[in-house]
Amino acid sequence: MYQSVLVTGASSGIGETIAIHLAHKGFRVFAAARRRDKLKTLSGLGGGRITPLEMDVTDEASIADALTQISEDGSALYGLVNNAGISVMGPLEEVSLADWRRQYETNVFGLVNVTRAVLPQMRIAGRGRIINIGSVAGRIAAPFQGVYASSKHAVEGLSDGLRRELAPHGVKVSLVRPGFINTSFGAQEQDELERYAGGAYAEQIKIFKSWHAKGHPNAAGPIVVAEAVHHALTVVRPHSRYTVPKKMLVFLALRNLAPSALTDRIFARVTGLDKFKKGSAS
Ligand SMILES: NC(=O)c1ccc[n+]([C@@H]2O[C@H](COP(=O)([O-])OP(=O)(O)OC[C@H]3O[C@@H](n4cnc5c(N)ncnc54)[C@H](OP(=O)(O)O)[C@@H]3O)[C@@H](O)[C@H]2O)c1
Repeated sequence: MYQSVLVTGASSGIGETIAIHLAHKGFRVFAAARRRDKLKTLSGLGGGRITPLEMDVTDEASIADALTQISEDGSALYGLVNNAGISVMGPLEEVSLADWRRQYETNVFGLVNVTRAVLPQMRIAGRGRIINIGSVAGRIAAPFQGVYASSKHAVEGLSDGLRRELAPHGVKVSLVRPGFINTSFGAQEQDELERYAGGAYAEQIKIFKSWHAKGHPNAAGPIVVAEAVHHALTVVRPHSRYTVPKKMLVFLALRNLAPSALTDRIFARVTGLDKFKKGSAS
């Protein structure tokens, strides 16, 4: 019998690739997101082992409906991949509290909602795997990325707590933290930044935006994330953290070992923001 896995945010990008990859590897995949039309295209893929499910991670009733459909299908979930996420970008001073909440409702409370709904069956079964998709931004925050980065810092912390409390119950928790990955996420972040193009940080936003624009198109594809998720689901002792692509470990080592004053200067140099001088805006 195939092991069943629920993947959230599977209508595009990383989640879609994870769903297809796991189905090809023999998993029964429940692919969840809000846009059912986008999910429909997954039905024919992965050897027919993908079932699309409409689910909004911020809506507990919609999560309960999706889980009912899974149990009516006769499937007990072995794995949960918490991948659904959005990115709110912009100067902390100018991002509205409504946008802050929108960020946390999806990336933090949405992840908690789905995890809490799935956990009882895994705990009672005494087996299961939970894989949270964090981000390198969960350790390193770029300027104008503080809202998103802080939500991913929260995912780092809650993943550690969860891993330790579930270990005696046979449920293993891993965190996969991608760096730049080539999906439409980058274009969405560019749109977010554009909202602040006329504000008090306009000149800095312009510089940062042009550096950021090069990141996603030149990055690794989402398959590197899917391979890490597959590893976390299948090996006896999954890693607590997977950083992908591996070259991102250099930045994490720098963050952990170098003084902040140095990493701040490196950030400014790399992004071009070192050229910004207050009052230099045209
Ligand atoms: N791409 C990168 O460079 C990168 C780097 C580090 C981490 N990540 C993380 O990887 C994950 C996937 O990102 P991606 O690059 O694949 O972006 P993406 O293509 O925009 O995918 C995001 C997915 O999340 C779903 N989603 C958003 N809000 C949702 C909600 N309320 N309920 C259910 N699903 C929701 C979207 O589906 P619907 O709109 O259909 O609901 C979509 O399928 C995110 O957690 C992101 O933070 C991405």
